[in-house]
Order: sequence, then C-alpha cells, then structure tokens
Amino acid sequence: AGTLGAAAAQSGRYFGTAIAASRLGDSTYSTIAGREFNMVTAENEMKPDATEPQRGQFNFSSGDQIYNWATQRGMKVRGHTLAWHSQQPGWMQSLSGSSLRQAMIDHINGVMAHYKGKLAYWDVVNEAFNEDGSRRNSNLQGTGNDWIEVAFRTARNADPSVKLCYNDYNIENWSYGKTQGVYRMIQDFKSRGVPIDCVGLQTHFTGGSSLPSNFQTTLSSFAALGVDVALTEVDVTNASTSQYAGLTQACLNVSRCVGITVWGVRDSDSWRSGESPLLFDGGGNKKAAYTSVLNAL
Ligand code: XIL
Repeated sequence: AGTLGAAAAQSGRYFGTAIAASRLGDSTYSTIAGREFNMVTAENEMKPDATEPQRGQFNFSSGDQIYNWATQRGMKVRGHTLAWHSQQPGWMQSLSGSSLRQAMIDHINGVMAHYKGKLAYWDVVNEAFNEDGSRRNSNLQGTGNDWIEVAFRTARNADPSVKLCYNDYNIENWSYGKTQGVYRMIQDFKSRGVPIDCVGLQTHFTGGSSLPSNFQTTLSSFAALGVDVALTEVDVTNASTSQYAGLTQACLNVSRCVGITVWGVRDSDSWRSGESPLLFDGGGNKKAAYTSVLNAL
C-alpha cells in the first residue's frame, strides 16, 4: 500500500494524526493529512478549555471543524479528552470538592451528548498518574480517589457506542512504576466491572535509538486484561528510524493493538518542533522515518 492509512488497514488497523483546526487552510498540510491517514485526533479542539469555556456554555465550533473535515474524507475520529488536570477552562481550575466533581460529570455529559454515536474512541481520562505509579495530585484527584471510575461510568451512560480509553505518557516501559500503576487500575476496573475499553499509550519518545525495554510486553500485558491498546500521540526525538520501525512492529505483533496515531503531520506542526520528531519535514517531504514505518506496516 502506498499510504500509512492503507498499509495499516491491511491488518485491520488505523494510522492517524493529530490535526489542528487552524492549519486546515494550509494546502500542503491538508493534502498530506488527507492522503496518508484514516484516523484523526483533535490536537486541542476537544479539550475542556475549548469545549466548555464558560460553565454550562459549550462550544464545539473548532472541534466540529475537525470532525467534519475528517469524516468528509472517510476518516474516523478519536475524542481527546474529557477529564484532565491540564487545559481546563479557568472556571474549572478554581473549583474543588463536590462542585468540581459535579462540573466534571456535567462536562462529560455535555460534550459526549454532542458527539454521541459519532466517534470511534474517547480519551475519557488523561494523565492521572505520577511517574512512581501513585495518583497525580490535581484538583480532580482532590475530589476523591473514585473520580476516574465515576468519569468512566458517566461516559458509558452518555454514549454506549464509543470505546472508552484511559490515556497517558511514560507507560511504555513495562518495568516502570507509572506503567504498573496504570496496569493495576485497569486490572481493578476490569475485576469490578467499571466500564473501560482501551488504554492509550501516548508514546512521546525522547532520546535514544532503541525502544524502551519491554514495549511489546507492555502492550500485550494490557491487552491480556481485556482492553484494546493504541499508540495515541507518537513522536520520537529526531525521528529515529529504528524506534519508529520498532514501535510499529510492536503494535503489529499484538492483535489488540488497534492503531497508531502520530502527534502532528510535519515537524513544523509539532509541539516538539525543535526535535524534528515526525514523519514529514517542514516542507512536507517524507522523511526516512516515514519509509521505516510504511515498510514495517
Ligand atoms: C499538546 C498540544 O500538542 C499542544 O498544542 C498544546 O499546547 C499542549 O498540549 N499529552 C496530551 C496532549 O495528551 O493533549 C498534549 O498536546 C501533549 C501531551
């Protein structure tokens, strides 16, 4: 196959990218994105500060712009994200306790109602753990340790058709505290019937030329709990070809690894643009890492 999306589809997987609504008018950008990918994540446009700028007043204009662009081209969409310590609107940042808990529930219900039946996945909760595997201290954590399961139960009721994911970074190395902390939470949720369908590994790799140890073991271990796994925000320092090929191969080796999403199109579009971490250079040319991924798919 001649594109990332078509190559991934040969094994029933998708290959996605983060899209920024503000860049869709750039024809080089939209031409590459429209050609190569078959899954889209809004880079910022479906986050809480974008979708509920004032309490109870929802704004889906830029999220819908991305949703419409993607679905008009036959692509699917991952929702990102409903409950997160970062990129909260100002009014939410200043809440705590039961009023924040209710605001979280209302936010999930409001956003999911708008996109009901339309999305393939939702990142319900993002980045809730510390590096040592304990829970991250945040205003949401301050509402009680059960905030994550309440978020997932609320999400399942709001839209039973969409797969519900927990998403985090630095959970790629199996022998790392944070990976184990997230693993234990998923295991606990599965044993108690808390609704969860997938784990997203952001896969922001920094430095080095080889994969974090046991990356494939991490994918297969999560999958063995009965959830899908996905690489949701891939970027790699200097686009190491061996790391890009290795992470692609690791996903292909795990049947429940459903797809790979890179966190932007060209290096110049990246939140880590100084590290040239993506598959296309600033001019829109395919990099060596692009070929290494395409050949591995
Ligand atoms: C980043 C975006 O790429 C930036 O444009 C924004 O300024 C900050 O957020 N983990 C996530 C993503 O889950 O939402 C983040 O995206 C990158 C880290």
